[in-house]
Amino acid sequence: MTGFTALHVLWLTSAFTFAREEMVRLHVSPRVAAAAGRPAALRCSVSSERPSHLRVQHMEWSRNKTTLCSVNSRGNLSTNAQLAPSDFHCGYEDQQLVLVFNRVRPMESGRYGCKLQSNQGALHQYTVLELEEHSGGAEGYVTRHGPACRFRHVHPDGEVHWFHGSRRLPHDGRHGTTKRVEDGGWLSIDSHLRRNASEEPYNCSLRSAGSGRVIASALVYHTDALLEGDGGHAPSLLRNGGAAAAGAVLYISTSLLFTLQ
Ligand SMILES: *[C@@H]1O[C@H](CO)[C@@H](O)[C@H](O)[C@H]1NC(C)=O
Ligand SMILES: *[C@@H]1O[C@H](CO)[C@@H](O)[C@H](O)[C@H]1NC(C)=O
Ligand SMILES: *[C@@H]1O[C@H](CO)[C@@H](O)[C@H](O)[C@H]1NC(C)=O
Ligand SMILES: *[C@@H]1O[C@H](CO)[C@@H](O)[C@H](O)[C@H]1NC(C)=O
Repeated sequence: MTGFTALHVLWLTSAFTFAREEMVRLHVSPRVAAAAGRPAALRCSVSSERPSHLRVQHMEWSRNKTTLCSVNSRGNLSTNAQLAPSDFHCGYEDQQLVLVFNRVRPMESGRYGCKLQSNQGALHQYTVLELEEHSGGAEGYVTRHGPACRFRHVHPDGEVHWFHGSRRLPHDGRHGTTKRVEDGGWLSIDSHLRRNASEEPYNCSLRSAGSGRVIASALVYHTDALLEGDGGHAPSLLRNGGAAAAGAVLYISTSLLFTLQ
């Protein structure tokens, strides 16, 4: 008798849980792609099979256990803007909580969680905000050691390849590349070659670690005319280092592509 009652209660409980789970749903996009510096919106909306009986008690967008914005049972929205260095705002209407980033940078990309507590159940969903491949372009210049290139606002990481004419130069001791992370999570990549002057321009290109495509390149002219002679004006300029020499040397820079699409 006692055994039957316990079983009966268990059956009722699981049926009830099942019904509650079916009644309310939380909708998010699993992935949201954003172009660099452009806005992106993460939407989280609630639906119910019995909408007139649904009472939202709490809803929030969070990242890494930090709440970015939340709504209470009265529908009041609060935003935790001080916590994150990101430029964002939130909106809440018709049981949809929207998190909007005004300008997406690498540091905004990642996984965000939307949480719901309601009288019809509690649910949790995730969205991944993905930043598309980007490069702010390539700038070529000449130092006293040889040609050099700078790539700025890069995402994701990439590898620098140098060409001389159609010949690809090896990654040997005469090729140096340094990378650093700038504000917002952007990468800045500097690369230089120890090479003698040549009539034929050098080409530095950045191959994205994401797609494997060349996302920026520049031609660097490193000619005898600019380097020859010991007493000339140009050589003394060049000996002063890359920054001063850059203005005196002809360079062409191109940026090939900004997004995957
Ligand atoms: C998440 O939080 C942990 C600990 O608070 C921290 O170490 C980590 O860097 C954070 N990750 C991101 C992506 O913010
Ligand atoms: C919440 O919203 C109600 C009206 O919807 C308002 O009267 C109340 O002051 C709000 N509370 C807070 C803390 O914003
Ligand atoms: C570069 O120039 C130096 C000095 O003129 C010379 O010794 C060296 O062999 C040259 N290297 C190449 C690869 O041409
Ligand atoms: C440099 O070389 C790469 C790889 O061959 C090529 O895709 C790119 O167009 C070249 N860039 C310039 C400016 O010629």
